Order: sequence, then C-alpha cells, then structure tokens
Amino acid sequence: MNWFDLKDDVAVVIGGTGVLGGALAEGLARAGAAVAVAGRSAERGEARAAAIRAFGGRAIFVSADAGDAASLEVARQQVIAEFGQPTVLVNAAGGNQPAVTVTADHPFEAINVQAWRESFDLNLVGGALLPCQVFGPGMCAAGVGSIVNIASVSAHLPLSRVIAYSAAKAAVLNLTRFLAREWATRGVRVNSITPGFFPAEQNRKLLFQEDGTPTPRAKSILGHTPMGRFGESQELIGAALFLASRKASSFVTGSDIVVDGGFLAQTI
Ligand SMILES: NC(=O)c1ccc[n+]([C@@H]2O[C@H](COP(=O)([O-])OP(=O)(O)OC[C@H]3O[C@@H](n4cnc5c(N)ncnc54)[C@H](OP(=O)(O)O)[C@@H]3O)[C@@H](O)[C@H]2O)c1
Repeated sequence: MNWFDLKDDVAVVIGGTGVLGGALAEGLARAGAAVAVAGRSAERGEARAAAIRAFGGRAIFVSADAGDAASLEVARQQVIAEFGQPTVLVNAAGGNQPAVTVTADHPFEAINVQAWRESFDLNLVGGALLPCQVFGPGMCAAGVGSIVNIASVSAHLPLSRVIAYSAAKAAVLNLTRFLAREWATRGVRVNSITPGFFPAEQNRKLLFQEDGTPTPRAKSILGHTPMGRFGESQELIGAALFLASRKASSFVTGSDIVVDGGFLAQTI
C-alpha cells in the first residue's frame, strides 16, 4: 500500500496562486490528486495549473476570493463539475500586511483598527473561516475530508512588529482545533501546518533589500533558526501529503505540524 497515494482525492488549494500554496498544489498533484488551484490571480493560477498538467498531473485554475463566501461557492461548484466532490482543502491564502506593522515610529497604540481588521479578514476570515464554512459541510455530507490550514510560527509566540498577523494566525490554530472536534465523527479531519520562514511574495520586502541582500530582520530570523537558512516551499509538501492522506493520517485531527528549521525550538 502506498500511504501517500492521493489518486482518489480532489484537492482545492486556496492561495494556490501564491508561492507556498502553489508548491503544495504541485505536491498534491504529484501524489495523484486532481487539484484546483484557487485564488484571485488568474495569471498565476493558470500558470500553476499548466505547470501541473505539463508533468501529467490533473489541475485547473478556479477564480476564488477567499474573503467572499459567494465566490467560494461558485469555485466549489466548478470543482465539483470538473473533478467531483472535494476531499482535501488547503487554506493558504494570507500574509502579513505592512500597514499594520508596529515600529518605533508607529507604536502599538497607533495601530490602525481598520488595518487590524483587514489583517483578520485576510488571515482568519478568508484564510480559514469562510473556506471551511463553504467546503466543510459537503465534506461532512460525503463523510470524507481533510482540511489543512496554514498557520505560522507567530501563531505560537507573537513575533515582534506583526501583532495583527500573529493574533490572526493564533486564531487560525484555535479554529483548527475547534473544527477538528466539531467534525471528528463526520469523516472530516482538520489540521494545520506551521511554516517557519520561506521567501514568498507577501514577505519579500521584509526579508530582502532592493539589491537582494538580507534585511536586518532576515539576519535576525536566520540567527534564531538552528538550521541557519530559510525554508524552500517544496519542504512543506511532505507535511501536507501526510495530513491530506486518509491512509497515512487517518487518526490525526486537531494537530499542527511545525516545519521551521527548528525556529520554535530555539531559545538561547
Ligand atoms: N512565506 C512564509 O514564510 C510563511 C510563513 C508562515 C505562514 N505563511 C502563510 O502561508 C500562506 C501562503 O503565503 P505565501 O508566503 O506563499 O505568500 P504569497 O506568495 O504572497 O501567497 C499568498 C496568497 O494568498 C492569496 N490571497 C490573498 N488574498 C486572497 C483572497 N482574498 N482570496 C484568495 N486568495 C488570496 C494570494 O492569491 P491571489 O493574489 O491570487 O488572490 C496569494 O497567492 C499564507 O497564509 C501565509 O501567511 C507563510
């Protein structure tokens, strides 16, 4: 038996248009799943789906705004029409928003509440809540489902500066466990992955100067990462395959897999 064979699965990757979501979409497709790459950017989504088809995988792009339940429902219907009932949902839409970053010139008390709400809207509401509401009931009705939410090391201990993002990701972990309990007897498992630091679109300016050299914050992150390097997006795939596979992780729900080069294990 191949524990990680997903040929009977239909996976939807929201934020599959991004760096980490895109790598996860490819990884799921290489394991045999039919994959819907979902997001707002048709250009990046179509390119990712084409790359998957180019190696013989099954993939389509579906337009979806994670923050809009109606848009997610349209996407869900498209996936059902093309591949059948989704059995795997990866929630990889999200990211830090610079507008709500705390700095010496912009202290905690100056946080703009509207920007705070936007961070929660992106990372908690669109990043997990609405997709679970839209895709979860169909999975429960079918009695088969694995939901993988993408958290962050900042969900475990808040990183300096990015408190709105950290708090929203902490809520994603909390929601993951709530839904794990809620749907445990209905065939739907709900888990999360906690990535450490992976160069991607939403954190590019945080990590690299214009000339490509690391920022002081990137140096500080690497100094705190026992492996002394950033992650590569492909390094998240193994955790996602494990959680997606109904054979490999049949008794796993409410769990979080940390993929961070040791970041959360480091003190002094
Ligand atoms: N990179 C890291 O180091 C790291 C670490 C921990 C956690 N994460 C998390 O990993 C996830 C993926 O981020 P990434 O680092 O790969 O960044 P990314 O390349 O910027 O991807 C983020 C994706 O989120 C999607 N998105 C944003 N708003 C959306 C919306 N309303 N509807 C649908 N999709 C939306 C974007 O897709 P469209 O523009 O197509 O809508 C984009 O492709 C995020 O949840 C992020 O917080 C990343």
